Amino acid sequence: MHKKLFIPGPTEVRQDILEAQSKPLIGHRMKAMTELYTGLISKTQEILATQNFTFILTASGTAIMEGAIRNCVTKDVLCCVCGAFSERWYKIAKACDKNADAITVDWGKAIKPEMVEEKLKEKKYEAVTIVQNETSTGVRNPVEDIAKVLKKYPDVLLLVDTVSSLMGDHIKINDWGIDVCLASSQKALALPPGLAVGVVSEKALKKSEIVAGRGHYCNFIDIKEYFEKKGQTPSTPAITLMYAMDKQFDKIKAETMENRYQRHKDMAQYIQDWANKHFKMFPEKGYESVTVSCIDNTKKINVADLNTELGTRGFAISNGYGKMKEQTFRIAHMGDLTLEEIKELVSNIEEILKL
Ligand SMILES: Cc1ncc(COP(=O)(O)O)c(C=O)c1O
Repeated sequence: MHKKLFIPGPTEVRQDILEAQSKPLIGHRMKAMTELYTGLISKTQEILATQNFTFILTASGTAIMEGAIRNCVTKDVLCCVCGAFSERWYKIAKACDKNADAITVDWGKAIKPEMVEEKLKEKKYEAVTIVQNETSTGVRNPVEDIAKVLKKYPDVLLLVDTVSSLMGDHIKINDWGIDVCLASSQKALALPPGLAVGVVSEKALKKSEIVAGRGHYCNFIDIKEYFEKKGQTPSTPAITLMYAMDKQFDKIKAETMENRYQRHKDMAQYIQDWANKHFKMFPEKGYESVTVSCIDNTKKINVADLNTELGTRGFAISNGYGKMKEQTFRIAHMGDLTLEEIKELVSNIEEILKL
């Protein structure tokens, strides 16, 4: 039996989107590919309301996390760490031989603008990394407010991981001044895994031009030049996934980002109210994610058993991440899921737990 995915990625993909992948292949250097790829770029820009340089990479989101570091940082980068994925970016920066400093807060807490400002006053950084939606803790960092701080430091680039929030949460790339915004297909885009989206500002591109060691696969300048020349990607993309993306972006455009965001907020509110009634939300108040709710397991239920029982009924939720495996559990309301589906899941959980 298929288990409907209420996990924070891969998320549930609708049947018509899955079927869109089964069209016959085209060659990646054919005119049809240029049409498909340039169309995808325009649709992405339209949905995200930006004209910044946009590309789709055949990779998972982590590849662009690494790409952002390699393209935008020669030496000094400040990484905001509040969970497993933001820590990953810090580790990536170190692995790329950069001089990375971290602002670290406890899991469940958010990064505040004052914390960033304090560090920027102390030292000259080239870039700040921040995860908008820390999937491991269900914390939504106030990127809009942090971006306001960055406006006072125009030489510092703002690199934002929106892997589990883009096309679900509210993100204003241009107004906020996000220099690199990146996401993965298997989250709020509600697509299979395998594609990543990158949106890069003029400022970041200018910086890339003078940064050495940008690497090859996610070299912003090479990807841009190839796109301008051919309207394609430098290496062979996952064409069938792009068929699915093309159809999904038409559906997202039809829904509108405004409605999509509202739907995510409604689902998040429902889960938060339910969690606060029976358990407790894990993130600090006011910083709860709109795409995934991380619930403090105050009743000490056996999360693995709950998920096994849910599985027999055709649902899957997620245990806590890493060290919080049994201490928390996560219900994702991400992508194309509806409030009705969330209510159905919750009533099954209540039945199983006899709440
Ligand atoms: C916030 C965040 N950043 C980065 C990643 C890594 O993305 P990917 O697995 O697509 O490389 C994830 C994956 O769950 C994530 O949730």
